Amino acid sequence: MPDQTITSVSREHRKFRPSAEFKAQANLGSEAAYKRLYAESVNSPEKFWDRQAKEQLVWRKPYKKVLKWKPPHAEWFLGGKLNVAENCLDRHLGTARENKAALIFEGEPGDVRTITYKQLHLHVCRLAHIFENMGITAGDRVAIYLPMIPEAVIAMLACARVGAVHTVIFGGFSAESIKDRINDCKAKLVITADGGWRRGKVIELKANVDKAVENTPTVQTVIVVKRCGNAVTMREGRDVWWKDAWDGAPNSHKAKAFDSEHPLFILYTSGSTGKPKGVLHTSAGYLLGAKLSAHYVFDLKETDRYFCSADIGWITGHSYVVYGMLSNGATVFIYEGAPNQPEPDRFWQMIDRHSLTILYTAPTAIRAFMRWGDNYVLRHRLDSLRLLGSVGEPINPEAWMWYHTLIGKKRCPIVDTWWQTETGSIMISPLPGVTATTPGSGTRPFFGVVPKVVDDKCVEVPRNSGGKLVITQPWPSMLRTLWGDDDRYQRQYFSEFPGRPEVYFTGDGARQDKDGYFWIVGRIDDVLNVSGHRIGTAEVESALVSHPSVAEAAAVGRPDELKGQSLCVFVTLKAGQIASEQLKEQLRNHVGKEIGSLAKPDTIRFAAGLPKTRSGKIMRRILKEIASGGEVKGDTTTLEDFSVVAALQAED
Ligand code: PRX
Repeated sequence: MPDQTITSVSREHRKFRPSAEFKAQANLGSEAAYKRLYAESVNSPEKFWDRQAKEQLVWRKPYKKVLKWKPPHAEWFLGGKLNVAENCLDRHLGTARENKAALIFEGEPGDVRTITYKQLHLHVCRLAHIFENMGITAGDRVAIYLPMIPEAVIAMLACARVGAVHTVIFGGFSAESIKDRINDCKAKLVITADGGWRRGKVIELKANVDKAVENTPTVQTVIVVKRCGNAVTMREGRDVWWKDAWDGAPNSHKAKAFDSEHPLFILYTSGSTGKPKGVLHTSAGYLLGAKLSAHYVFDLKETDRYFCSADIGWITGHSYVVYGMLSNGATVFIYEGAPNQPEPDRFWQMIDRHSLTILYTAPTAIRAFMRWGDNYVLRHRLDSLRLLGSVGEPINPEAWMWYHTLIGKKRCPIVDTWWQTETGSIMISPLPGVTATTPGSGTRPFFGVVPKVVDDKCVEVPRNSGGKLVITQPWPSMLRTLWGDDDRYQRQYFSEFPGRPEVYFTGDGARQDKDGYFWIVGRIDDVLNVSGHRIGTAEVESALVSHPSVAEAAAVGRPDELKGQSLCVFVTLKAGQIASEQLKEQLRNHVGKEIGSLAKPDTIRFAAGLPKTRSGKIMRRILKEIASGGEVKGDTTTLEDFSVVAALQAED
């Protein structure tokens, strides 16, 4: 085994097969068909993707070549032109889908809006005009910092329509994080709201943007949606209300076509060094990956009403609220607020109220529902549901069984989908009409995906042993680079194995069981997965050491029943600083201010020293063991001073 941390303890063997009824109606219902298509997709990928691209996408100009692969750079559908927004909207006009709901929105206070494809098209066209009048042209960057409201979808699609590159920033990020992201991509325009509702309170989004744009020289305009009616300051000449910009904007818009490889969006995500990475996705390949996977994994039907609880600020919102779903003409339900507002049964209430058929959520949410109690679920029918999905982190078998029994009533297949911001679309997942599922396993690869579990030399490890999860062939929705840092792109993803520059390293540990099913064990780099959010330990550490009292900090994950992992930090203070509960609170708030509340440490421990190697590297493995309350095992011979460990353990 290449790394002590890649140990898989799961003994789960139960198998759940799709029912005959589900199979009969599924978009793909036979094992033979899966095997045939999968074999074609990996043995003749260009042939497979050529056919899919022609069938699935609307092209303005046909492409000449399917793939150019010069590792680590891939280009797909070269020479072709299309418009991504047109692929999500215009293609449905004049068809039976025109007056179908594209979005059903429920705000936290209970307000509901339904927007048909025709209406959504009109909104997007108007905003596209507004952008053009503001001088936003193809390639310009636009930052979107909005609650989960229809305007977020409209803003993304309007960017796509005019060829502007959006970067959506999750509403939980602080002013400091907004500033860093805007400066990294040099956004000209920011779209925000006065506020958003969360647990009955207003999150003041505009105030955060105001603070951020004090130090973002490239921002010329801020468009503000009125959502909560809270007081905001509007800066003359820079800030405009969405509604005011709206008045007089024409309803139709002739969309230009853009190259297949035209940048579509940048999404910042945590890596193992301090600075977030701007993952760049481009147009045709991304859209094709999102669309095809949505069709097969969620088994989309015209009559479905699909609910994805992920925020638009994450990749799940990009691919499976917006691009993958709307390009398929699906009806997407979005919800603005917290799952326990006003009561912990909000999701179940909404599922019944809107007759939702598919639910895609995260294990951390499922564990919270379990904790809140079955009674909140049992008072609702949930009989409209036919399929369930899970994403963001490994789902523990107990949570899987609860989801299956209490929510799915043993009737709904569960698709446990493994993928990443970087992969753009689902890579490993059951197909609900085909695959026998096992609680906790993402099962098998999606079409065109060649995952392998390998050792440090990139040699496949035997079945049931742990190793590094890699992907050995390019796929259409893969990231193209890191914005402004192509070297880091290569280093981070394509340099793990000397002599194998074509192998993509996921950063995850995994194993394959005897049936070939994949089990994700977790991250093996310095990235944590807290409540399904990726948090770079280095980001938290650099936030902490920017506090005047802190000399040194190390952040590690600790298993947590609810959040998957919780964030534990060890802090040494500068001389003369006094450790206190008050300082702990200050440090937590400081991290909240620097990164956002999602990165606030759960536990802060003051230490006189941190365990280091003789070359001065912090030994996180040891800190992880101490944080989990366990005994320090394994090799400690490289440790510079064992007394540091003894002192830390004594404090516990
Ligand atoms: O560690 C894996 C975990 O989440 C990471 C990707 O995080 P992010 O880019 O934020 O995207 C999350 C949504 C796609 C992965 O490297 N992860 C994601 N889905 C699963 C998972 N781990 C286990 N099972 C999953 N289904």
